[in-house]
Amino acid sequence: VIDIRKLYGNTGRFTFDPGFTSTASCESKITYIDGDAGILLYRGYPIDQLAEKSSFLEVAHLLLNGNLPNAAENDEFTKNITRHTMIHEQLAQFYRGFRRDAHPMAIMCGIVGAMAAFYHDSTDIHDPKQRMIASHRLIAKMPTLAAMAYKYSIGQPFLYPDNSLSFAGNFLRMTFGVPAEPYIIDPVVEDAMEKLLILQADHEQNASTSTVRLAGSSGANPFACISAGIACLWGPAHGGANEAALNMLREIGTPDRIPEFIARAKNKDDPFRLMGFGHRVYKNYDPRAKVMATVAKNVLDKLNIKDPIFDVARELERIALSDPYFIDKKLYPNVDFYSGVVMSAIGFPTSMFTVLFAISRTVGWIAQWTEMMEDPEQKIGRPRQLYTGPTQRDFVPLSNRP
Ligand code: ACO
Repeated sequence: VIDIRKLYGNTGRFTFDPGFTSTASCESKITYIDGDAGILLYRGYPIDQLAEKSSFLEVAHLLLNGNLPNAAENDEFTKNITRHTMIHEQLAQFYRGFRRDAHPMAIMCGIVGAMAAFYHDSTDIHDPKQRMIASHRLIAKMPTLAAMAYKYSIGQPFLYPDNSLSFAGNFLRMTFGVPAEPYIIDPVVEDAMEKLLILQADHEQNASTSTVRLAGSSGANPFACISAGIACLWGPAHGGANEAALNMLREIGTPDRIPEFIARAKNKDDPFRLMGFGHRVYKNYDPRAKVMATVAKNVLDKLNIKDPIFDVARELERIALSDPYFIDKKLYPNVDFYSGVVMSAIGFPTSMFTVLFAISRTVGWIAQWTEMMEDPEQKIGRPRQLYTGPTQRDFVPLSNRP
């Protein structure tokens, strides 16, 4: 705690906490993490139970509304989502403005932000019903927009959503299907996709969720707020770690090269870090990584894929977790360590990994945004700073400056 009266005069005290390592920015009833014990609960339910037993849309209902839906609520919620899976045809024109080789996360930042232009006047953020419609629109349209980003990058025509399919099945078809050919959804892949989406749906006040809340605290349009979240998620220290982790595993290539990379991660003069390792909150095994490792093994076994990077990942984990550097610093695999192996096995290129994360996290972002908007005490987010620049000085005309 800094006594800022010394710095700024008599204006009270504030906490100096770079990176917000110990500052709570809000109250929330959505997600609970015990980082030391490796526990993650959505609205009280353990993440492994949800991943094992529920569908992504049930989890979306849970996060948004606070309860697991009964059969009638589930039907109603599913209808509400599928009603909004199509996107405005004019929005589809936006893709043509991007280079074919644009990173799909760059496209997603732009396209989701552009949705604000389509739903600006119809979204009264003070009306709970309209907030809910905006939430449904975002959850429903993200897979369509993401699949279109992929199709655009490979030069294939866009596919319209098929609302008779599951959330994951519809996304897989729009991504990998081609017009005029039936697309058979592999149940193993569909199940893995649902689990992947559930595991990443919310994670309390992480960087991107805090970004969404901060953007929303000014009363901004929710689509613009989610676009801000996507931008933040993209970074390699956050959601971009899944892409970085898989690239790292591929670069390592074979288990015999692991010690070289472990040595680099431990070397303070080398900026290299083991991607998919370490977490701000978990000082124990990330419970999502445990489930993800099992999903990865299942998908590879059942699809009969012999991917050496899974062996590299397992061996890297084994070696790191018996190394004093990683033990002392409590660095364990996080959710991104194995998610890349799963997505790669399903057939996604690495550039789509963080996009998949964004589809899933949109549920958490919009649930957190809704919770904030419902709070009567809600204030604009406005962190303070510790100013370390020059003290007041007088202007010097250009001709007199040394
Ligand atoms: N490899 C090697 N050393 C590491 C790693 C790593 N992956 N992560 C942390 N460390 C070391 C740091 O060098 C630091 O050492 P020091 O105390 O000697 O300086 C110590 O562990 C603490 O690290 P910080 O960066 O201070 O921890 P912070 O909580 O700020 O960072 C983060 C957490 C960003 C996740 C970090 O562990 C990291 O960069 N990991 C790799 C990227 C990654 O996997 N990100 C995904 C996070 S999960 C998600 O966003 C979905």
